[in-house]
Amino acid sequence: MAHRRPFVAGNWKLNLGPREARALAEALAERLTEERSVDMAVFPVSISVPATVMALAGSGIEVGGQDAYAANQGAFTGAVSAPMFREAGCTRILVGHSERRSVFGDSNAIVRTKLEAALAAGLLPILCIGETLDERDAGRAFSVVTEQLQAGLGGLPADQVAAITLAYEPVWAIGTGRTASPAQAQEMHAAIRAWVAANFPAFVAEDLRIQYGGSVKPDNAAELLSQPDIDGALVGGASLDADSFARIVEAAASVHG
Ligand code: 13P
Repeated sequence: MAHRRPFVAGNWKLNLGPREARALAEALAERLTEERSVDMAVFPVSISVPATVMALAGSGIEVGGQDAYAANQGAFTGAVSAPMFREAGCTRILVGHSERRSVFGDSNAIVRTKLEAALAAGLLPILCIGETLDERDAGRAFSVVTEQLQAGLGGLPADQVAAITLAYEPVWAIGTGRTASPAQAQEMHAAIRAWVAANFPAFVAEDLRIQYGGSVKPDNAAELLSQPDIDGALVGGASLDADSFARIVEAAASVHG
């Protein structure tokens, strides 16, 4: 609740090469450098991480990778490992984004290995979970999300779970302009927190931040973020524009301030 510091993150997906990433990062640094009440992070493509890290140095805005392979090194053409993101200045990493799951075939088991590799490298993961429209329509939203939670977090030591942020991103709301209603999102966030409370010590569930993701925009952010179990946002499209990302951060600051 009020004690959880809001956390707004921008997932830039497959957009912005080094030059454009630097320009956006510089604009964000200028606009948000005074923001002290919200944790902020951006997730550029791997090749744009160094330019983004440089542009955001001293800004208070963290940089993360979009996906790290489970192995640290070896014959894995095209992959980037968690220690490499760390070495490049990243503090965070997305794990299990729905596009990784649906486009690249990351199963719950693969997501778990990537989560453990990220934790071992000292990166703070954002574990993404969420159901598809078919799953929701079939009444399976809660069971799908629970399976993802069990596979991702089940059996982890409490101190490791405490290092994780969850992002509930209903797949049907991603990039569609169709947001979950604040009540729909809150219902799932409360269920997620209840699952964590049932499986880990109470402080873990109380302190765990659960972001909402899926068509978050400046004009719907405040209403979503004012829900008691929504602690931040994972923003796709609207994070590609400095002004709209900054307005979402400002909404988080005012709702939780
Ligand atoms: P949009 O905000 O573009 O719907 O993307 C959400 C998302 O997938 C963030 O990870």
